[in-house]
Amino acid sequence: MISVCLLGAGNVASHLFKALNNTENVTVVQWFNRDLKKISTDKNDVHITDNIDALKHADVYILAVSDDAIADLSTHLPFENRFVVHTSGSVNIYDMDKKNRRGVFYPLQTFSKNVPVTFKDVPICIEALDKNDLNTLKQLAESLGCSWYKINTEQRQTLHLSAVFVNNFTNQLYRIAHEISDAKSINFDILKPLILETARKVQETSPFMAQTGPAKRNDKKTIKKHLKLLENEQHKAIYELLTQSIKNTHGR
Ligand SMILES: NC(=O)c1ccc[n+]([C@@H]2O[C@H](COP(=O)([O-])OP(=O)(O)OC[C@H]3O[C@@H](n4cnc5c(N)ncnc54)[C@H](OP(=O)(O)O)[C@@H]3O)[C@@H](O)[C@H]2O)c1
Repeated sequence: MISVCLLGAGNVASHLFKALNNTENVTVVQWFNRDLKKISTDKNDVHITDNIDALKHADVYILAVSDDAIADLSTHLPFENRFVVHTSGSVNIYDMDKKNRRGVFYPLQTFSKNVPVTFKDVPICIEALDKNDLNTLKQLAESLGCSWYKINTEQRQTLHLSAVFVNNFTNQLYRIAHEISDAKSINFDILKPLILETARKVQETSPFMAQTGPAKRNDKKTIKKHLKLLENEQHKAIYELLTQSIKNTHGR
């Protein structure tokens, strides 16, 4: 049985709590957040606290808080030589206070508090400075039914950078497409099968092989028409930049 103390109550912590609390080999002994209102709905399922000095003993302390708060919060933990991990893709393992044993439990997925996630499908990138601690993280990931990958800080930061391209930037392109279609009273739902197929296709072939469209074909007249249709100068600049990037990749 692995005992866990969870710190933070945002997108990741909320999903982690649900997943950990429903896992046989894991017990969540306490849930901390500086603002108790954020976790009060779960107060019957777990001991909650907003007092950092009242943290109970646990095998693992998971700091699922904002990147910028991780280092500072790790210095305020009222104990030493316990196992403390963060859940960030970009924060260095050494940024946490060395008074405790340090590790990382980074779930590579996009989490929004009220959008359900199938946790067992989330790959977990784990890192620890101590071999036994690494084993604890392997067991924790396996208990959740997740695949785990031993990833060092440099690799994790590169993965996080790639994740920004595949998730955040792609999602921003969806948002722009939504705005463009909305402006002409076109239902965004019509584009949803294309969004799904785009994501499905790269499960079977490389992104290079999956590319289609006017930039890859170098259909100059179509590209010109699209640029004329775009009213927003920033959208025009994004279109031109990505078109050039596709042309460079495909030797046009
Ligand atoms: N969201 C994702 O898709 C995702 C995916 C993988 C990893 N991550 C990583 O997981 C971590 C949490 O992300 P999130 O999306 O869950 O963030 P979030 O929803 O913005 O929640 C941030 C949490 O940090 C707490 N916090 C902020 N500043 C604090 C401070 N100075 N002291 C104590 N607590 C503080 C907040 O407390 P209050 O509730 O009181 O404001 C809140 O509970 C980050 O390291 C992020 O990089 C996020």
